[in-house]
Amino acid sequence: CGIVGYVGKRPALSIVLDGLRRLEYRGYDSAGVAVIDRDEVLTEKRAGKLANLEKALADRVDDGIAVGSTAIGHTRWATHGGPTDRNAHPHASGDGRIAVIHNGIIENFSRLRAEIEATGVEFTSDTDTECAAHLLAAEMRALRESGSPEGPQTLAEGMRRAVSRLEGAFTLLAVDVQTPDAVVAARRNSPLVVGRGAGENFLASDVSAFIEHTREAIELGQDQVVLITPGGIEITDFAGAPAAGKEFHIDWDASAAEKGGYDYFMLKEIAEQPQAIADTLLGRLSERGDIVLDEVRLTDQDLRDVDKVFIVACGTAYHAGMVAKYAIEHWTRIPCEVELASEFRYRDPVLDRSTLVVAVSQSGETMDTLMALRHAKQQKARVLAICNTNGSTIPRESDAVLYTHGGPEIAVASTKAFLTQLVACYLIGLHLAQVRGVMYADEVAAVVSRLRRTPDALRELLGKMEDVRALARDLKSSSTVLFIGRHVGYPVALEGALKLKELAYMHAEGFAAGELKHGPIALIDKGTPVVCVVPSPAGRGVMRDKVVSNIQEVRARGARTIVIAEQGDDGVVAYADHLIEVPRTPTLLAPLMTTVPLQILACEIAAARGHDVDQPRNLAKSVTVE
Ligand code: G6P
Repeated sequence: CGIVGYVGKRPALSIVLDGLRRLEYRGYDSAGVAVIDRDEVLTEKRAGKLANLEKALADRVDDGIAVGSTAIGHTRWATHGGPTDRNAHPHASGDGRIAVIHNGIIENFSRLRAEIEATGVEFTSDTDTECAAHLLAAEMRALRESGSPEGPQTLAEGMRRAVSRLEGAFTLLAVDVQTPDAVVAARRNSPLVVGRGAGENFLASDVSAFIEHTREAIELGQDQVVLITPGGIEITDFAGAPAAGKEFHIDWDASAAEKGGYDYFMLKEIAEQPQAIADTLLGRLSERGDIVLDEVRLTDQDLRDVDKVFIVACGTAYHAGMVAKYAIEHWTRIPCEVELASEFRYRDPVLDRSTLVVAVSQSGETMDTLMALRHAKQQKARVLAICNTNGSTIPRESDAVLYTHGGPEIAVASTKAFLTQLVACYLIGLHLAQVRGVMYADEVAAVVSRLRRTPDALRELLGKMEDVRALARDLKSSSTVLFIGRHVGYPVALEGALKLKELAYMHAEGFAAGELKHGPIALIDKGTPVVCVVPSPAGRGVMRDKVVSNIQEVRARGARTIVIAEQGDDGVVAYADHLIEVPRTPTLLAPLMTTVPLQILACEIAAARGHDVDQPRNLAKSVTVE
């Protein structure tokens, strides 16, 4: 879910709605706002996308909702309770004094609900969040009865007391009509940043919600409460002791989060990939020839002691991890496993202090990955994060961090984040190899210089995607599309299939090309499109020849082959119903090229089928629940 809060002198509604628009990628199945105007909390909430809420608000011209200068807003990805108007946030206390929005899951909610209902309170939604509104109202009543003065401090104290009852993950924001110039928030396991303005302050799930207004931000720590008023930001821990957040300056350009002339954010982000790769590589090779990470709380000796690498991630980031395994094992000769974070966490993996766990996450907030990281730390493993979002939870809890400098990624389907994750994985592989003395500085520099050539090659490739667009229109009515690849082409095949599933809602599957004959080949029928990712003929010619044999096998069974191969690999032409050529790249780095046509294919098929490319149904970009 996405969360925004504002307090200041300006009408808060439009600021909060703008913020929600930028956070909509975090969930978009319902949205709502609460604005304080004089002695009233005015709320509006609607199922469906933000546009539905905006339509409803357009009818409310007579009350103060458009003028009040304190507000909170929420865009939801449903967990407890379906995406309906009544389950949309904000949720109010029974007396209507308080409105609350929430991101996360309150795990002891059924117990709390029963307890609250026993006191005669009636619930008006099926959400876990509503418990928090009633608890806060009850604490505020108790504080008033015991003589606490009305005011922001009492509101903050009420919040601290209320959250002490909650288990699970939450960012909670609340407003109270008795304290009109304040928003209070609490954070445990879910993201929250503060934006410091002049005479106004902001709260949000991430900085994109307020970069238009301020570049000065404060990252909250775990288990903290923050109170914002027009002139102040006060942070405490849950017990009330003053605490400090970490101040940082946001250097993202606000326009980086706008569509910039493209029909979809996804197309813009695909086009930004060469720059994103170049930015991620910038300054990574020191004058001494060492790879430079961003934050390292590990010694070289710690890295030399590593005897096993585990990569944990979800979705597209997991595919980046699969590619990394090939590179890391090849360069470092350390065994490397890749696992879905959600599986790793509950499987009792064998870890100790000489295991390096690499957590890959664009958002830095994916709960499955965060839980895997915490599990790894409990077992004393060292954790290194690859992340695109400065100040997010995963890098903060890791021992070392390499930030991908992809800039904000808004489209739910990940593109530039994936390519920059690949670059980061390569750099980490090289760093490990270097520290351990298995690769010399000049060998490392040679790979980095090949990496530095990829942005230009990718620009060239992006200029030649017209055929892929035409192909997409052609494939839009297929009932299934299969993807095959070997070695690093296998994760590319999986990624191509995932893109098509998430965007076009089509049946798509990726297979290891060699595995096809052991079962999946039965799926092939006359005309079934099969996308084949062919390895470079240079270096690993044998592997390329094997894939060519696999292409022949599917063709013999009627498949329509779409072949992605290196420029100049003329031997594949005869087997390709449709050939997509990519610039020549060393085998391990090839996914930086071969993935891109598949992104465009999925995006164009989805558009041709009339789907919302940037916000596919049922998904959210940042999934902060397990
Ligand atoms: C969600 C998104 C995916 C993304 C995955 C991991 O499921 O829909 O596109 O790959 O989360 O996200 P992360 O932010 O951890 O990279």
